[in-house]
Amino acid sequence: MKLLKLLANLGYGSRKEVERFFKAGAVTDADGNTLGEKDSVPYELIRFKGEPLDPLAPLTIMVNKPDGYTCSTEDADVTVYDLLPPRFERRNPGLSSVGRLDKDTTGLLLMTDDGPLLHRIIHPKYKLGKVYEVELDRPLEGHESEIFASGTLTLKSEGRPLLPAELEVTGEKTARITLHEGRYHQVRRMFAAVGNHVVSLKRISIGGLTLPNDLEEGEWRILEQKDLDTLFGK
Ligand code: URA
Repeated sequence: MKLLKLLANLGYGSRKEVERFFKAGAVTDADGNTLGEKDSVPYELIRFKGEPLDPLAPLTIMVNKPDGYTCSTEDADVTVYDLLPPRFERRNPGLSSVGRLDKDTTGLLLMTDDGPLLHRIIHPKYKLGKVYEVELDRPLEGHESEIFASGTLTLKSEGRPLLPAELEVTGEKTARITLHEGRYHQVRRMFAAVGNHVVSLKRISIGGLTLPNDLEEGEWRILEQKDLDTLFGK
């Protein structure tokens, strides 16, 4: 691929802006020699303003999502893209959230430009559990685990019952729940169905991949192949 198109696809700018970067000498090789739009240089040796380029597609990242950020770009709110370098929102192919978290849900969010990978993570047929830590308004009554595990609980205005979900009670008003599907506001609606109310919700793992302790809220990290292997339990 031509250097100009490569940089534009990585979101460094529109074609016109990238042309200007070339003219200004912002694109160099590792030794600082200025590159032209048509030069052919191994990708790892290209520098933009002295920095190595972002990874090519396919790219998958994990984000520790803070409260107050939406996963959708369709509204004017603060979005998870605001946590990333601005060029990430302009990448082609674009990065999408792997299953959305509500605005006020925190924790592990994956974003990828790899459609088949996204499908493998979210489709119930691949049975990747998503684990959430839940804080509730009222004490648990003791019957919730059985109801959630039954495979017969049907949420309001839905025709199909939920897949069985596992509940681990961790305190009077706290629990960990593992889902194997991702319906709209699922955890909140499940607890509403048993007469409770979710006060806070944090996703702590997807498949074998757990939110690392050293990834602070608002931080993100590129996933390596070994992380994807961990995710799928290889
Ligand atoms: N269930 C919810 O209710 N909200 C989320 O963000 C994720 C799962």
